Amino acid sequence: MTASTSGPLACRRKGPLRGSIAVPGDKSISHRALLFGALSTGETRVTGLLEAEDVHSTRRAVEALGATVREEAGEVRIVPPEALREPADVIDCGNSGTSLRLLTGVLSGIPGLSVLTGDASLRRRPVRRVIEPLRRMGANLSAREGDRLPPVVVRGGALSGAHHVLAVASAQVKSACLLAGLFAEGETSVTEPERSRDHTERMLRGMGVPVRTEGLTVSIGPARPRGGRVDVPGDISSAAFFLCGAAAAPGSEVTVRGLGVNPTRTGLLDVLAAMGAGLALANEREVAGEPRADVTVRAAELRGTEIRGAIVPRLIDELPVVMVMATQARGRTVIRDAKELRVKESDRLAAMGETLAAAGARIELFEDGCAIEGPTPLRGVTVRTRLDHRIAMAMAIAQLFAAGEEVVLDDVACVATSFPSFFDLLDSLCLAPTPPHRSGGEGRGEGGRP
Ligand code: S3P
Repeated sequence: MTASTSGPLACRRKGPLRGSIAVPGDKSISHRALLFGALSTGETRVTGLLEAEDVHSTRRAVEALGATVREEAGEVRIVPPEALREPADVIDCGNSGTSLRLLTGVLSGIPGLSVLTGDASLRRRPVRRVIEPLRRMGANLSAREGDRLPPVVVRGGALSGAHHVLAVASAQVKSACLLAGLFAEGETSVTEPERSRDHTERMLRGMGVPVRTEGLTVSIGPARPRGGRVDVPGDISSAAFFLCGAAAAPGSEVTVRGLGVNPTRTGLLDVLAAMGAGLALANEREVAGEPRADVTVRAAELRGTEIRGAIVPRLIDELPVVMVMATQARGRTVIRDAKELRVKESDRLAAMGETLAAAGARIELFEDGCAIEGPTPLRGVTVRTRLDHRIAMAMAIAQLFAAGEEVVLDDVACVATSFPSFFDLLDSLCLAPTPPHRSGGEGRGEGGRP
């Protein structure tokens, strides 16, 4: 992010959104490139790595474990140590649940003591879901409030493989178990109720580790990745803000080039098609084991849809902005089976429910989702962003439907966790961004702040 990196921000833009952009690298893949690179026998070279706070947390963690990470000629080079070592200090994962949960799996296999903590948001997020399966492999972990919340203390040691049956589809839990499995004796397998994102499986295979997938079960044996090259595609979870905004703002057409379209991540594209948005994929190809494409979305009269079951893990992070888009669609959009939204960087159902209702949306909340009736014009609102980047960005998009009124985000520092250039890209897509110097205009920089 450029001018306004923290503090409040008043958004006042107008659609349509038009243009062709690339978005920053996929966050999930970026974390894994650093972590798996650090675990490997040889070097890893990464292009397109996301430069954002969450990924910096993983970078600092792997450096604390003995890896060297440096930028060289447009690449990030990860040089692993002979063996990862006990960190000399507490590892602070900041806002990043992926860093913390994936690291529990790795640290379980490294002799020594490690402590993982994070910011106020991360210290409210559940960790028993990784502690319990890892303990079944012989790992020694404990956490605050009866093993419920970080900080997490890990005493690494000998592990043995186990078969895990997960109650929720979670790529973070699956990955923690598989990573511990690399250090364990015998086979480790994980069965999920629905398929979660499979970047771990793909990247480990690309680094020479045999990973077997059969239906909803993934199995791995003791191994050490060999490193290699990773080219990170654009993050569909970041592109989602523009794609949903473009689908709903009349006259819009946005192309996102080089976007990751791994089928475990493309639930949003299915929803856009079901709601009647104009959608086209071009230049589809696979690079370094991950599919990518240029994705174009055109505005259309949207209709409500139902989102439940197996699609939910395939668009879980996109749901806040899907909720915004649903306020502009004709009829009823129903989201169910999304209770996981309550344990993300914030309780996203509560946050979006309260905020959209305050902005005039017709929204009913359920324990595991919501129903939204549209179309409804929105009005200006002040948003408590709750250390949650996706709430801030979703509501910056909601402002496009607020009839020229301001949406004030109380603190936008959180946007830097995944997408520091978000506001710049949004400006570049708005045909008529309100000039920053005009009073009441967008608060980029000091002048516009409320
Ligand atoms: C992620 C998995 C998802 C997602 C998160 C990133 C990952 O969480 O919400 O933003 O990189 O593995 P869960 O695995 O907990 O569902």
